[in-house]
Amino acid sequence: MRNFEFYNPTKLIFGKGQVEKLRYEVPKYGKKVLLVYGGGSIKRNGLYDQVVKILKEIGSEIFELPGVEPNPRISTVRKGVDLCKSEGIEFLLAVGGGSVIDCTKAIAAGAKYDGDPWDFVTKKAFPSDALPLGTILTLAATGSEMNAGSVITNWETNEKYGWGSEHVYPKFSILDPVNTFTVPKDQTVYGIVDIMAHVFEHYFHLDENTPLQDRWCESILQTVIETAPKLIEDLENYEYRETILYCGTMALNGMVSMGFEGDWGTHDIEHSVSAIYDIPHGGGLAILFPNWMKHNLSVKPERFKQLAIRVFGVDATGKTDEEVGLEGIHKLREFWNSIGAPSRLADYGIDDQKMDMLVDRAMREGGPGVFKKLTAEDVEAIYRASL
Ligand code: NZQ
Ligand code: ZN
Repeated sequence: MRNFEFYNPTKLIFGKGQVEKLRYEVPKYGKKVLLVYGGGSIKRNGLYDQVVKILKEIGSEIFELPGVEPNPRISTVRKGVDLCKSEGIEFLLAVGGGSVIDCTKAIAAGAKYDGDPWDFVTKKAFPSDALPLGTILTLAATGSEMNAGSVITNWETNEKYGWGSEHVYPKFSILDPVNTFTVPKDQTVYGIVDIMAHVFEHYFHLDENTPLQDRWCESILQTVIETAPKLIEDLENYEYRETILYCGTMALNGMVSMGFEGDWGTHDIEHSVSAIYDIPHGGGLAILFPNWMKHNLSVKPERFKQLAIRVFGVDATGKTDEEVGLEGIHKLREFWNSIGAPSRLADYGIDDQKMDMLVDRAMREGGPGVFKKLTAEDVEAIYRASL
């Protein structure tokens, strides 16, 4: 293991009816509240009314930023920053999925910065402060509810990058599985893929002696694999939603990834696809990850073998590590196909016309990956295998 520090200040408030806790949490941070949300799902399922009622009862002065896009735009962040500055906003409340939360984090940091918040995304500047924010999560996927990360897209330049700062950890996050009941089947599947992909990004590392971390990762994967097929047939099942929601948070809140450095190459190459074609993040990962795995199987076949045996139940008798690993990758592909995830870029109508741009964007931050630092040729090969 590497030396490590662990810090996660987000208060997790989990379970049925927990939205009521807003009453006690919000007043700690201020009266002027900016409510940030997406394209209307929270209005359709009644959560918006619930939240506004509570905020009114506790005397909050409510401002609103609706319309945060999936793959949230820097233009929306800028709008939010202007609102915070002109109205003297004291607290930000994100109600939605990862996109709403990520956008809110960027607004929170941007509100305390004189320059353009895109500077944070491109790492030209690092936040030294941020407005406090809280979240009510409505979609199990990103882990953004309990981490310091945010992913923002610049649609003018077709760039999408992740950035992070300890100043943007949510002060609290409220996770009621009931609030995820209305997530449609396709988004539910994208979320499931994203959760598994976060575990894979951790799992493929080059550090030694991480037995406990390995088991944690494997247990999240096993739990998701066991629950996902039942959930997609029964979208309003509380227990299945609860299990997946908890898996999503645990997959990317730092708990299972102490003491080693994960890869994150597939996320970087997926972000390029989303930045250019505006596809859902989880859909892109479902297409790319098995191809990243095949491309890098020879880097450390014993890692793939362990995954294949422990998570996918592959019988290793008489086979080489690479053969076992490859069987595990095929089982992953089969599993994602079985729950309806896309498997080719062609599923989104994407061909190789913008290949140069895809590779250029993926390489902008110096080459994706740690398990294997990918060259432009590697990235192109993975995209081509995914067409
Ligand atoms: O906008 P609304 O109307 O709310 O609809 C959303 C959106 O269309 C809908 N939705 C959310 N909750 C719902 C619901 N529909 C019905 N009922 C509900 N309860 O789902 C659609 C997708 O929402 P979005 O927030 O975009 O999805 P997700 O949570 O998967 O977030 C994806 C974004 O997060 C980034 C991705 O790159 C992408 O931009 N990521 C953020 C990470 C982080 N901060 O740590 C890590 C991830 O790897 C990821 O990169
Ligand atoms: Zn992800």
